[in-house]
Amino acid sequence: MIEAMIAERMGRLGTETAFEVLARARALERQGKSVVHLEIGEPDFDTPAHIRDAAKRALDAGATHYGPSAGLPELREAIAEHIEKTRGVPVTPDEVVVTPGAKPIMFFVIMALTNRGDEVVYPNPGFPIYESVINFVGGVPVPIPLLEETGFGFDLRELERRVSRKTKLIIINSPENPTGGVLSPEDVGRIADLARHYRVPVLSDEIYRRFLYEGEFASVASLPGMKPQTIILDGFSKSYAMTGWRLGFGVMPKPLAEQLTRLMTNSASCTATFIQHAGVAALRGDDTPVQQMVEEFRQRRDLVVDGLNRIPGVTCARPRGAFYVFPNVKALGRPSKEVATHLLEQAGVAVLGGTAFGEHGEGYLRLSYAASRETIREALARIERGLGSLR
Ligand SMILES: Cc1ncc(COP(=O)(O)O)c(C=O)c1O
Repeated sequence: MIEAMIAERMGRLGTETAFEVLARARALERQGKSVVHLEIGEPDFDTPAHIRDAAKRALDAGATHYGPSAGLPELREAIAEHIEKTRGVPVTPDEVVVTPGAKPIMFFVIMALTNRGDEVVYPNPGFPIYESVINFVGGVPVPIPLLEETGFGFDLRELERRVSRKTKLIIINSPENPTGGVLSPEDVGRIADLARHYRVPVLSDEIYRRFLYEGEFASVASLPGMKPQTIILDGFSKSYAMTGWRLGFGVMPKPLAEQLTRLMTNSASCTATFIQHAGVAALRGDDTPVQQMVEEFRQRRDLVVDGLNRIPGVTCARPRGAFYVFPNVKALGRPSKEVATHLLEQAGVAVLGGTAFGEHGEGYLRLSYAASRETIREALARIERGLGSLR
């Protein structure tokens, strides 16, 4: 009965296929099948010990009560300092909003800025939640293709054609999920020029900032005049292997931060208090475990890229960032979703079809290499066998 009563807007809400494929893979495992997991984007490392200890200490010290909706002052201060140091722009704690994971920042920013009919520009292939939330709030999604030829950077000519007075928000994500592509400083500069010209805010999803294997990180917020129209989305999930803790943040002009704080009051109330104390320890404590993890990921990237390029029918660019590869499987002549399903069901390796990230992902697969080298070697062997039986 309740099914017929679901609000119309729910029909516009999308999903994140990684969680669905994970559920299907787990169901196969329950039937006794062996599955190698390269579908979900989370580091296989444990959260560093000093961060876990800080959470335990906070729990024992009674940090078990509600806190301010925008986050604990000490964490907002630590984030402001961290952003100032890493992006080179002055930030005050009242420009910071702490949320359970970084995803709510995406949801809240799109909701707070987009009126019905407003256009929102975003990368395709890209993180599927952008498009899902744009549709949900009644905005008009304007996808910009990412091109393999330019290391999965934006098709800038297309971007220049599509940004106009109707654009309400530009979303960028570098390093990128799902391609591992990194926007060059020149690209970031051109995006900023457009944003300034049309006075459009930019939501800069920088959650993979630490996973950069070549070159320097360029934040659009650091460019002259851009801070007042930039929202930085970042968090702890990936950099500190804290996906299950749910801790993220946004940095934005104060009037928008106030709106996001109201959205927090209306939804989660606040982010778990003892977990925020762990966040302070992550930002202020020893950074060595993060550097070691990133170095290990660089080696895994090379292992997976070299291995994929040896498989007939597959070519794989070497991404400069994140922990994903986006191999081209167009030579197989099959829809990428079908290839991914075949690999899961026949070869026991869970990967995602590129179209899980938008129509321009057709012809590609996404593999997360946030898995041990042994797992990656096993996955490569299974992919080779599985694709062999597809032809
Ligand atoms: C591009 C991108 N942004 C944001 C997030 C959300 O991170 P969190 O787990 O902190 O909500 C993810 C997670 O997969 C992501 O890939």
